Amino acid sequence: MLTVIDHPLVQVKLGLLRDEKTPFPAFRRILRETAALMFYAVTQDLPTVAATVQTPLAPCPARRLERTVVLAPILRAGLGLMEGLFELVPDAQVAHLGIYRDEHTLQPVSYYARVPAGVAEAEVILLDPMLATGHSAAAATDALKRAGAQRVRFLCLVSCPAGVEHFQKTHPDVPVFTAAVDERLNERGYIVPGLGDAGDRFFGT
Ligand code: URA
Repeated sequence: MLTVIDHPLVQVKLGLLRDEKTPFPAFRRILRETAALMFYAVTQDLPTVAATVQTPLAPCPARRLERTVVLAPILRAGLGLMEGLFELVPDAQVAHLGIYRDEHTLQPVSYYARVPAGVAEAEVILLDPMLATGHSAAAATDALKRAGAQRVRFLCLVSCPAGVEHFQKTHPDVPVFTAAVDERLNERGYIVPGLGDAGDRFFGT
């Protein structure tokens, strides 16, 4: 399943993120804001269970999430998306997935995976701003599933047809949420028009 989140605020912020004139402190802030807005759609059907809270006046029915949320950023650009989400799910656990793309083969190289013990019972949200070839996201999902993850969804800011196709073919059970499906990949594996190197722009590299 592919969901393109075309909420006006998401689309306006995406335009600012794409703009090469947006300096990195603003890029950081806007990426965090965009992630939070997109998270609303990503989590829309998370199961909840009934609970009761005591207001100052009386007991009151309430809801809590049925399962722990695990945020799984692909290092390093995924960290930029994650920061905006802690305010919404302060008790989320984190699975760090270190994967980089070999610049020559464009194949993913996994160098780190640290996944919380309870991942099998959790709702896992994979985070990477760019779904380019789809190989890194597929490798990250492999790592999560090897660690026991059973419920994974993928939040990316910008995608492209080749990346979506590869990812969906490899992990058809993982819904993908994106703000845009761009035109194409270039010969260096960058999304066009995209927004450039998301990690460099977030970290001011
Ligand atoms: N990673 C990025 O940061 N940008 C792209 O366009 C593709 C992969």
